[in-house]
Formats: sequence, structure tokens, C-alpha cells
Amino acid sequence: MKITVATVKPFAPEAVRKIKETAEDTGYEFALLEKYENQKDLIEAVKNTDALIIRSDKATREVIESGNRLKIIVRAGAGYDNIDLAAATEKGIVVMNTPGQNSNAVAELALGMMVYNARNKFNGKSGTELKGKKLGIHAYGNVGKLVANIAKGFGMEVFAFDAFVPKEVIEADGIKALDSADELYSICQYVSLHIPANEDTKQSIDYEILSKMPDGATLVNTARKEVINEDELLKLMQDRSDFKYLSDIAPDKKEEFEEKFPERVFFTPKKMGAQTVEANLNAAVASVKQIINFFENGDTTFQVNK
Ligand code: 3PG
Repeated sequence: MKITVATVKPFAPEAVRKIKETAEDTGYEFALLEKYENQKDLIEAVKNTDALIIRSDKATREVIESGNRLKIIVRAGAGYDNIDLAAATEKGIVVMNTPGQNSNAVAELALGMMVYNARNKFNGKSGTELKGKKLGIHAYGNVGKLVANIAKGFGMEVFAFDAFVPKEVIEADGIKALDSADELYSICQYVSLHIPANEDTKQSIDYEILSKMPDGATLVNTARKEVINEDELLKLMQDRSDFKYLSDIAPDKKEEFEEKFPERVFFTPKKMGAQTVEANLNAAVASVKQIINFFENGDTTFQVNK
């Protein structure tokens, strides 16, 4: 039985070593494909494996259909919008994620980008503080919850809206739960996005909702670029000289944003929210354990294509 790790953006070496060690100690074969530049390399690797561990790598229908003996794909991370779930289900392939394992790294980056922005990208000019500012958490999952908690430490006033989490659950963490996204955007100077990219959310962060944000607004995106309506955000930033956009996922129209609003945007050069040794280790170990537990005990706890 073979477990293959295929990552364009590699895990920290410690994490790869841990997967290899855990796999081999349990009698599994281990294979590694890192920094590949062509989808064909992924397709080749998938032909010859029983289990696949990926990150944001694109497990398209073509990739999945080439997996003659493939039985399980684990997305070492939270979002699985990069996997064609229908194709996997049709082939009887189990797809899992590893929820929560890399959340702290993403949450720390969200706050880090906020400080960086509030201090004018550390350019020496007088900036502002986060303390006392209102922060809106849009979706209260693993990352949203951690961002909220860290932000409280900064002395921010934290609000959250999540259509799928009962208000009492949010309030139990000392966060003010709101009834709608509209309300969240109307109140908060900072909004941190933690919604997944799916058919309901893609392009949903548009001119209408963003224009509700008060003066000095900053939108922080460590979720997915697909949730943003980029044309409408460009228009809004044209109309509002106070509006800032910070994202861990460079938009498709990155050049246009940077050319028009150099002072008001920040994009990490590569998606790096989950790029810490700790997050890589957590997600890597969870992935390989979930695979072994699936093969040995039929455990499908983290299956997302049920
Ligand atoms: C996730 O969904 O877990 C994060 O976006 C991290 O993605 P990455 O593993 O591609 O860095």
C-alpha cells in the first residue's frame, strides 16, 4: 500500500520526514512529489498510489480519474475547493480534510497583516493601533474563532457572523454575535474573511456589502480569492480612498490593484497562511494518521464527500 505526498508548495522538511516515518513504520510505502510545475506530474504520481496527500494542489477530474488504485485523498488543510468531489465520489474515492490543524498559523497571519497595514507597512510613518477598533469575523470556524481570540488580546472589540453557528456558541467565547453579514460589515472597520469558497460564496463579497463598512475600512482575506468580486472591489477602492485590502491570496487582478492603489493593498507573494513548521507538522501528521486509520479501521471521521 502506497501513500504519496504531492505538493507544489512543500511542507516543512520535518513534516515530510514525519509522514514518511509514520507511513513506513506502519508498513506503507512512501512517495514524494514536490514543487512540480506540470499537472501531468501529478497525474503520473496518482496513477501509482493508494493514498494521496495534497495541499492546495488541484485534484481535478482528470487527476482523480487517473488514480487506478487510488482510494483516499487527504487535503492537509481546511478548504477542499481544490478537489473535484463529484469525480472522487463517482470513483468511490474517500476525500478528507484535516480541520483545525493549520488554523493557528492562518489566524496569526491575519492579525500580522492587520498590524503591518495599521503601521503603514513599517515605512516609518505614524500609524494606528488595533486596540479599540471593531473587528468583524465573517464565519466563525476554526480560523475565525482563533482570530477573534487573538484580537481580543489586542484590545479589539470583536463581532462575528456565521450563518451556520448558533449565536450562543459565539457569545460563549465572549464575542458579540450578529444576525447578518450586512450588520457585521456596517459596524466593523476591520473585517476578516473566513468563509469557504463554494457555489454560495463565490463572488459574494461585492460592492454592495463592502460599501457598508465605516470610514477607514480594511478587508482582510486569508480565506479564498474566489469569494471576492474583484471588479466590484476595484470600483469600491476607486470610489473610497479610505478602503484597504490585505490578502494572503493574490487576486487575479493583482497588477491592477497594485498599480492603482499601491499604498492600500498588500498581497503575500505566495499563499502562506498555513506555511509554518507547526501547521505543516500538525496537518501532515493528521493526514497520514487519517489515511492509516482509514485503511486499518475503516475510519471515515473526516470524510467530506459523504
Ligand atoms: C487551508 O485551506 O487549509 C489553507 O488555505 C492552507 O492552504 P495551503 O495548504 O495550500 O497553504
